[in-house]
Amino acid sequence: MSVTEAVHTRAHADLAERARRVLPGGATHASRTYDPRIYVARSSGSRKWLIDGTELIDYTMGHGALLLGHAHPAVVTAVQEQVSRGTHYGAAHPLEVEWAEQIVSLVPSAEKVRFTASGTEAVMLALRVARVATGRDRIVKLQDHFHGWSDVVSPYLDAEGRTHTPVGVPEALGLLTRVVRTDDPADLEATLARGDVAAVIMEASGAHYGQLPLDPAFIAAARAACTASGAVFVFDEVVTGFRVSPGGMQEVLGITPDISVLGKVMAGGLPSGAVAGRADLLELLATTIAHPGTFNANPLSAVAGIATLRLVGDGGPQRTADAYAMSLATEWAAALASAGIPGTIRRLSSILHIFLGESSAQARIANAMRAEGVDILNTSAFCSSVHTIADLEQSVAAFSRAIVAASTPA
Ligand SMILES: Cc1ncc(COP(=O)(O)O)c(C=O)c1O
Repeated sequence: MSVTEAVHTRAHADLAERARRVLPGGATHASRTYDPRIYVARSSGSRKWLIDGTELIDYTMGHGALLLGHAHPAVVTAVQEQVSRGTHYGAAHPLEVEWAEQIVSLVPSAEKVRFTASGTEAVMLALRVARVATGRDRIVKLQDHFHGWSDVVSPYLDAEGRTHTPVGVPEALGLLTRVVRTDDPADLEATLARGDVAAVIMEASGAHYGQLPLDPAFIAAARAACTASGAVFVFDEVVTGFRVSPGGMQEVLGITPDISVLGKVMAGGLPSGAVAGRADLLELLATTIAHPGTFNANPLSAVAGIATLRLVGDGGPQRTADAYAMSLATEWAAALASAGIPGTIRRLSSILHIFLGESSAQARIANAMRAEGVDILNTSAFCSSVHTIADLEQSVAAFSRAIVAASTPA
C-alpha cells in the first residue's frame, strides 16, 4: 500500500477522529499538524512503519535526535537493561556522573554540566544563570533563531524592525529581549556596548540548524563584544551538539561560548537537555540559583545518552552521516536541475535544507515527499549514520516525483 492509500484507510481516519476529540487540533506538536496525518507504529534504523505496515524512509530522525538511527542496538540494550533496574531514584546516581563526564570531555565550553528535561528548559536555565552572573536583565537573540518555546526567547522582529511577542507573551516581557538582525554586526556591538546585556544567545549554525547561514565573522565579533561588555555568550547547540562534530558547532568554528545549551543527540532519542559551560557560571547553581526538575538526569535518558556519546565520541558516525547527506544533496540538486525546477539544496553536515523557488511549492514539498514514502521535517532532512544506498536511491526517485507534484498547482 502506498502512503497516500494508507492515510486514507479506516484505521488512520479513526485515529485522526479520536485524536481531534482529545488533543487540540488532533496534534501534540506545532509541526506535526499537517494533513493527511500519518500514524507511526514502529521504527528501526532509517525507516518507520505506519499502523497498517506501510514503510517510510525517515529524515525527521526524532526531530534531529537520532544521529544513530531508530532503535540503535546499543541504545535499545542500554535502555532495556536500565528499565528493570528502575526509572527514577529520586536521588543522585552514578549514571549522571558518567554522562556529565562524557559531555565535559567532548564539548569545548563544558567545564560543568546541569541536566534538564528538554532543550527549552536548558535555554531557560542558561539565561537565568547569565542574569544572576551579570546582575543584568536584558537578553539578546538573533532574528529567526529558534530556541524552543519559552517566553524569554519568543520575541521577533517584523519587516519594519519592530519587536513583537507572540500571543500569550506579555509585551512587557518582550522589552527585556532585544532581537538583533544578523546582517548588522554594528547593531549587536552597539547594543552590547551599553553594558546592560546579560546574555547573547544564538544558533551558531545560523537560524534553524543552518537553514539561514551565519557569517563566522559575525559570531567571532559577537564573542569578542560579549567578553568586552561582560555579557555571557551562549551557543544553542540543541540540534548541532554532537551532530556536526563530537564537540558541536563550537568545535567546527573554533569559537568557544561561555555556556552551551544541549539536547537531542545527547540523550540518544530520549528526553533531556543540558547546560554545559564555564565552571564559575555553573557553580551559581550550587550557591545561588535553585534549580529543581523531576526528570533532570533521568536514568533512562542517561543510559541512552551514555551509549550514544560512546559511539559518536570519535566522530565516526558523524562522518558516515555527512557523507550520505553529501550524496543526497548532490542527487537532489541534480533532480531539480533535470526537472528544470528552480531550487537549491543547502547542507550543514548531515542536515539538508530544501529551497524551492516558489513558496507554494516549498509549502507542499513535505506532503509530496510523504506521499512518495519519505518523511522530512518541514523542509529539512536529517540524515543518520544508518541510511543506506537503497535509501539514497529511493529518496532520489521520490524527490524527483515530489518536486514535480509540489510545483504543480493543486
Ligand atoms: C536550536 C533549538 N533550541 C532549542 C530547542 C528546544 O528543544 P526541545 O524541543 O527539547 O525543548 C530546539 C528544538 O527543536 C531547537 O531546535
